[in-house]
This record gives sequence, C-alpha cells and structure tokens, in this order.
Amino acid sequence: MNITGEKVRVRDKNSEDSAMEIVWEQDAEIKDLNPHVGTVFHNNLFSIETLDGKHIGSCNLYNWTTHDVQLGIMIGDKDYWNKGYGTEAVGILVNYCFASASVDRVWLKVLLTNIRAIRCYEKCGFMQCGRLLLEGYDFTVMEIRK
Ligand SMILES: CC(C)(COP(=O)(O)OP(=O)(O)OC[C@H]1O[C@@H](n2cnc3c(N)ncnc32)[C@H](O)[C@@H]1OP(=O)(O)O)[C@@H](O)C(=O)NCCC(=O)NCCS
Repeated sequence: MNITGEKVRVRDKNSEDSAMEIVWEQDAEIKDLNPHVGTVFHNNLFSIETLDGKHIGSCNLYNWTTHDVQLGIMIGDKDYWNKGYGTEAVGILVNYCFASASVDRVWLKVLLTNIRAIRCYEKCGFMQCGRLLLEGYDFTVMEIRK
C-alpha cells in the first residue's frame, strides 16, 4: 500500500521502521491505551508518515476473512496526537478495505476508557456494536459496514 492523503501517507512498512515501533510499543501510556490482549501479536504491515516523510505510527489490517477485517492503529509519536492524523489514516485504511469487493465490514476493539480513539473512529463512521471483556480489560467493539 502507498496511499497519500492531505496530511498522512499510509505505506508498506520497511525494515527501518521497526526500531521506532519497538520504542512506541514499550511506552507505558501507549500500552495502557492499547493493550495486546485477545489477539495473537501481529507484526504491523503498514506505517504512517507525514507528507514530508516523518514516520509517526503504524497500523494493521488483520484477521482478514472474505467479508470481514480487523483494524489496528497506533500513532506512536505523541506530538501528533489530536491533530487529525489518526482520523485520516483510519479513513485511508477503511477505503482500502472497501475497495476489495468482498469486504463488507471493518471492525476493531478499543478500551472504553480510550476516549480519543473512540472519537477518532466515530469521526470515520464506526459505530459501537458490542462489548468485550478480556483479561480484565473492558473493550467496546466498533464496526463500519459498506
Ligand atoms: C487513537 C489515535 C489513533 C487517534 O489518532 P489522533 O490523530 O490522535 O486522533 P484525531 O486527532 O484524528 O481525533 C481525535 C479526536 O478525539 C478528540 N479527543 C481527544 N481527547 C479527548 C477527550 N479526552 N475527550 C473527548 N474528545 C477527545 C479530539 O478532540 C479529536 O476530535 P475532534 O477532531 O472532533 O476535536 C492516536 O491518538 C493513537 O494512536 N493513540 C495511542 C494508541 C491508541 O490509543 N491506539 C488505538 C487503540 S484502539
């Protein structure tokens, strides 16, 4: 993938991206917002960068079945939180999924306490459709349908 929006580019991950991903994934605040429970850990497939090429995060599409795909995202560089980068990246990913004729649903799970992420997903058109209690974490499940 290599898709450029107004402020972000979502592209295939390259080998240089792993170093920052490891730093971000070990950050306590990010771990609290995005605990890896309920899914086998997946290597991120895509990276998020600014239009001038600064690597600011990563994202993934996984558990892809014929009709259904799960989305994950992390803007790791906190200087870029709350500035619309995540919303644009999620929109790019959703459009990418729906460009595949067979996919009719994209879903994700997000902690009920992660207000910023929930707001971001709502802005992209996701709706809350369920609740998931996993290893003591309280998630809401959100989905968007074609
Ligand atoms: C979640 C994440 C992808 C969102 O991306 P982002 O670029 O920071 O978010 P955006 O700026 O696009 O949108 C955030 C929205 O939440 C709002 N928001 C943030 N904090 C809020 C709060 N405490 N209460 C209400 N709204 C809040 C922002 O104002 C903005 O909405 P607006 O545009 O209507 O003003 C990013 O912050 C991130 O990766 N965080 C760390 C890891 C994480 O939480 N990943 C998701 C796990 S499911």
